[in-house]
Amino acid sequence: MGILPAAFPVAAAAAVVVAVLFFSTLVSSPCLALTSHEVAAITRRQLANLERHGAHVHIGIDIKVKVSNPRLAAAHRALRALREALYSDPGNFTGNWAGPDVCSYNGVRCVPSLDNSSASTVAALDMNAADVAGYLPREIGLLSDLAVLHLNSNRFCGVIPEEVKDMAQLYELDVSNNRLVGPFPDAVLRVPRLSYLDIRFNGFEGPIPPELFLKPYDAIFLNNNRFTSGIPDTIGRSTASVIVLANNDLGGCIPATIGQAAATLDQFVFINNSLTGCLPVESGLLANATVFDVSHNLLAGSIPTTLDGLAKVEQLDLSHNTFTGIVPGSVCELPALTNLSVSHNFLAGEDAGCNALLAAKRDKSFEDEANCMGDTRPMQKSSGECAPVVSHPVDCAMTKPCGWPASSEKLAHSPPPPIASPPPAAPPPTHEAVILPPIYTSKYQSPPPPQFAGY
Ligand SMILES: *[C@@H]1O[C@H](CO)[C@@H](O)[C@H](O)[C@H]1NC(C)=O
Ligand SMILES: *[C@@H]1O[C@H](CO)[C@@H](O)[C@H](O)[C@H]1NC(C)=O
Ligand SMILES: *[C@@H]1O[C@H](CO)[C@@H](O)[C@H](O)[C@H]1NC(C)=O
Ligand SMILES: *[C@@H]1O[C@H](CO)[C@@H](O)[C@H](O)[C@H]1NC(C)=O
Ligand SMILES: *[C@@H]1O[C@H](CO)[C@@H](O)[C@H](O)[C@H]1NC(C)=O
Repeated sequence: MGILPAAFPVAAAAAVVVAVLFFSTLVSSPCLALTSHEVAAITRRQLANLERHGAHVHIGIDIKVKVSNPRLAAAHRALRALREALYSDPGNFTGNWAGPDVCSYNGVRCVPSLDNSSASTVAALDMNAADVAGYLPREIGLLSDLAVLHLNSNRFCGVIPEEVKDMAQLYELDVSNNRLVGPFPDAVLRVPRLSYLDIRFNGFEGPIPPELFLKPYDAIFLNNNRFTSGIPDTIGRSTASVIVLANNDLGGCIPATIGQAAATLDQFVFINNSLTGCLPVESGLLANATVFDVSHNLLAGSIPTTLDGLAKVEQLDLSHNTFTGIVPGSVCELPALTNLSVSHNFLAGEDAGCNALLAAKRDKSFEDEANCMGDTRPMQKSSGECAPVVSHPVDCAMTKPCGWPASSEKLAHSPPPPIASPPPAAPPPTHEAVILPPIYTSKYQSPPPPQFAGY
């Protein structure tokens, strides 16, 4: 990433035209969550937009505005359509989106075009945290020179239109922290130059397409959606440095193919996904990973001793699973380790190799509470809690290796995207309930968690 800086200067207002916002009564109540009725209304408008124009992208051209550069003329149409698709703009973010000078619009960044340095093209649109509500019109595909699209922390509803595939230069797509719904947006897989895909904190549901992991992306953030149906075993072929699947309901197990991603995988965050089965021994092949987090799942069996292959791991979180057996000393002794958590499992003890880590409290963190280590360690589970699990440990040597699909009934088709009707009412997450993945050292910082109830 990093073609362009993440924050663009706010352009000065150019030709000022009175802003006629739709449903302007709502503008007076900023930061309000959308009701499900409003979400349905916006989504119906998107559906009408998708239907009305049939196969052709068309928007009435404002004959009063002449944009001579044809690329900017197309961008002008796209931005006009986007502005018209807004239901609420409480911060007047698009207030100056009028007139021919699209490069002066708030959030728009132009650069000289590659083939003609005296002609400008729209290279980035940054509407992060603008708090607008609306839908994404299909005309967004007209932004064919756009490299960076940041729509993080708004209230976009409905689906991602197919036309995103026409964004031939799009490199970074961040629609995180909105109210988008539907199945995994397959159209993004056809964006030819995409490298950074961030759709976290939305309402996407159903299976993750196996094809996703065959794309040459550098970062894949799918966390905090409603994805189900297991982790495709194509994940081993991913070239991404960051894969964050946390807080979905994927189920199934971690594919043994994961080890094949060793050359590139840096951060592997699979928190809270109802993952079952054993941690594959191949996990230990991820010798370039710095973050390995499978906490808050239902993983069982012993901690594989092969994890001593995680030569660069700094954050290793195995907590809140049902691991049994002993914490291998070689895992405690991993050279780059700063944070190891094995707490809230059914572990019976720790190898002597862990003593040094226990002693090194100052610059390293080692958590092991709520296990079954009896009196040898503080804050352990009672023997009554431990007995049923510890007496029937899962033998990973006897379990079948994990493949995909996780289970055939989970692959059953998910319901179609709720376009015409209100999307299923998401239980409004409280501020406390939102847990961002612990990307301590990431070059990719998490977006802010949803700020407004009802997101
Ligand atoms: C929104 O911004 C435009 C252009 O900067 C300005 O003319 C208009 O008065 C603003 N509207 C509101 C409601 O603040
Ligand atoms: C380059 O862009 C400028 C400004 O839009 C235009 O006048 C000129 O004709 C273009 N040159 C070429 C070779 O297309
Ligand atoms: C775990 O994921 C589920 C969705 O599968 C979500 O409802 C829940 O809030 C998540 N838990 C935490 C602690 O984030
Ligand atoms: C780790 O990354 C380096 C540098 O890209 C590469 O040479 C090495 O082969 C990778 N390690 C593995 C186990 O693939
Ligand atoms: C370890 O992780 C915790 C969060 O679980 C964090 O607060 C702490 O700073 C980390 N410690 C180190 C040394 O990175």
